[in-house]
Amino acid sequence: MSMNSTDNYRVKVTNIVEVAPTIKEFTLVAQNGELTPFSPGAHVVVTMKGENGDGQLKQWKNAYSLLSDPRDTSAYKIAVRLQPQSRGGSVFMHSQVSEGDELEITPPANLFAPNWRAKKHLLIAGGVGITPFMSYLPELERMGASYELHYAFRGLQTGAYKTELIEQLGEQVHCYDADAGDRLLLAELLKSQPRGTHVYICGPELLIDGVRQNAALLGYPDSLIHFEEFAAPQPGSPFTVTLESSGAEVQVSSEESLLEALEANGVEVPNLCRGGVCGQCVTKVLDGDVEHRDAFLDEREQDTCIMPCVSRAKSKTLVLGL
Ligand code: FES
Repeated sequence: MSMNSTDNYRVKVTNIVEVAPTIKEFTLVAQNGELTPFSPGAHVVVTMKGENGDGQLKQWKNAYSLLSDPRDTSAYKIAVRLQPQSRGGSVFMHSQVSEGDELEITPPANLFAPNWRAKKHLLIAGGVGITPFMSYLPELERMGASYELHYAFRGLQTGAYKTELIEQLGEQVHCYDADAGDRLLLAELLKSQPRGTHVYICGPELLIDGVRQNAALLGYPDSLIHFEEFAAPQPGSPFTVTLESSGAEVQVSSEESLLEALEANGVEVPNLCRGGVCGQCVTKVLDGDVEHRDAFLDEREQDTCIMPCVSRAKSKTLVLGL
């Protein structure tokens, strides 16, 4: 599903709060039309226009989970973790966005919805990976669903919302602060769940892999395991792509993704997650070597396709079927 710009919402940032030492929460209110309700786990893509570290104008588009109540259409909330080593979107949100500023967001899309047939929902969050679960919780409560939230973080950096969660949800919430020496023992946690429990994980790759491996060893079928990985595009060497239809060349700098470079040159490619998981941006490669960084293409598809939201060229040039 491609979004054209008229589908997008213009929103005003009405409130910015530091919810953990490295995480800021932004409240977004519609400037044109109404915000829609969304399903738990949904995200929006935020377009940010500003200056990068070299004073050049730049545009970023990052996906952020919505963390407000899915039925509250008065405002959306997102939380952004500052990642100074990444390509600048989070730095922009932390240092250049102020209350009263306008941003553009896509309508919500969901790649991480709960399965309502689950006997029990086991939510496992790492750091800023708490955000999609913030929209699960009001809905799980309303449905009277059986659930537990296990939330691992580093109290000196992350740990947003832990106090409110414990206050509001009591013993359904279990917090593990690594900076205080707490450990989340995955095998024991997974072993003690009733049959038919669905497991949802959002957080760093290491946590997701740890849960998946332990669940596999314990015989959980794959269909019960759901995960969302924020694979923000990583920088790499610059390269050039040639577009088959027009012969036009597009330069991709080390700091931008191929998808961003195409968009900056007026080439629209469908996209939803901008993190290498949804499959929407799949693009044919006619020549050149690709460094695949996505979690979508299988080995056979890797011979002929690239996911431009995260993957880059290994060779100096690529020819794309665009
Ligand atoms: S936009 Fe989802 S895989 Fe590229």
